[in-house]
Amino acid sequence: MTDITALENETLAAIAGAGDEAALEALRVASLGKKGSISELLKTLGGMSPDERKVNGPAFNGLRDRIQSAITAKKLALEEAALNARLASERVDITLPVRPEPVGSIHPVSQVFDEVVAIFADLGFAVAEGPDVEFDDYNFTKLNIPPDHPARQMHDTFYVAKQADGSQHVLRTHTSPVQARTMLAQKPPIRIISPGRTYRVDSDATHSPMFHQFEGLVIDEVTHLGHLKWVLEEFYKAFFEVSSVELRARPSFFPFTEPSVEWDIRCDRSGSQIKFGSGSDWLEVAGSGMVNPRVLDNCGIDSTKYQGYAFGGGIDRLAMLKYGIPDIRSFFESDLRWLKAYGFAALDLPTLDGGLSR
Ligand code: PHE
Repeated sequence: MTDITALENETLAAIAGAGDEAALEALRVASLGKKGSISELLKTLGGMSPDERKVNGPAFNGLRDRIQSAITAKKLALEEAALNARLASERVDITLPVRPEPVGSIHPVSQVFDEVVAIFADLGFAVAEGPDVEFDDYNFTKLNIPPDHPARQMHDTFYVAKQADGSQHVLRTHTSPVQARTMLAQKPPIRIISPGRTYRVDSDATHSPMFHQFEGLVIDEVTHLGHLKWVLEEFYKAFFEVSSVELRARPSFFPFTEPSVEWDIRCDRSGSQIKFGSGSDWLEVAGSGMVNPRVLDNCGIDSTKYQGYAFGGGIDRLAMLKYGIPDIRSFFESDLRWLKAYGFAALDLPTLDGGLSR
């Protein structure tokens, strides 16, 4: 018996001292493997008398079981230690503070995108998107501007070379094709806002060949110009961060709306900065109207049951007005000094309750 106790103590001590899984495996083979010390011991049972076996059998088997569970426990402990070591060595400290001096900044156009989206999201509008390179069909035809319509000339379009199948693509001249895309993809009620890039052959201090617009579209069973006016008032109040604005409607023409209305906002240009909400000047801010029933029909919406309103305006123009930027071309020159002067803090996402522009 002393032999077994010595063997057990010796083996347990070796197991406890195993430094890694390979050493432990070697110990397992040396004790429980085919030719291992404990396996050899178990083999001696065969040559014993029944009485000897009665005593030694349980003792040897007990020894084997204890060694087996010591090895299993040690294996788990070694695996856990290895995992902890790996977790510690591969740890990434994400708690580092941001640099006190921000390196990058948010472009005023991106800032205004986010402000427009924040305001309309609060009014229950979802954001919709469309591609910059658009089907002629969506940019014009579906919007009731057929191929020979004189209104196409209003748009100074960049045409893309015809596709192999004869279809024509354009750089979208406005965000209104997103109206067509949305109506073709969704059933009413529809309430979307879509800011994005637009292109026209035009360039001076107030026009850039690439510029930005936002489009709004609402389609439901009962919608009217009063809803449109209220939504625009709420938007401009929130956007210019003033407690009231006054909008003036002017009759206008767009092939995709009927009637069509352009909106001017009352402002004061007597000081060095333009102010909204009072004054004796008017500034044009948006085109809009009730969606032409032909557009509804073109886009698979039953014009006898549904009606809607749409509106659109320039984002760059809004940014220039709100942040006092005189020349639209400076937006696209990527001048770092300009971006430092007019850019916004990267982590300040505009929200209505947290503040739009701070
Ligand atoms: N797409 C028009 C433009 O670019 C604006 C507009 C949008 C007018 C929606 C009416 C309705 O001038």
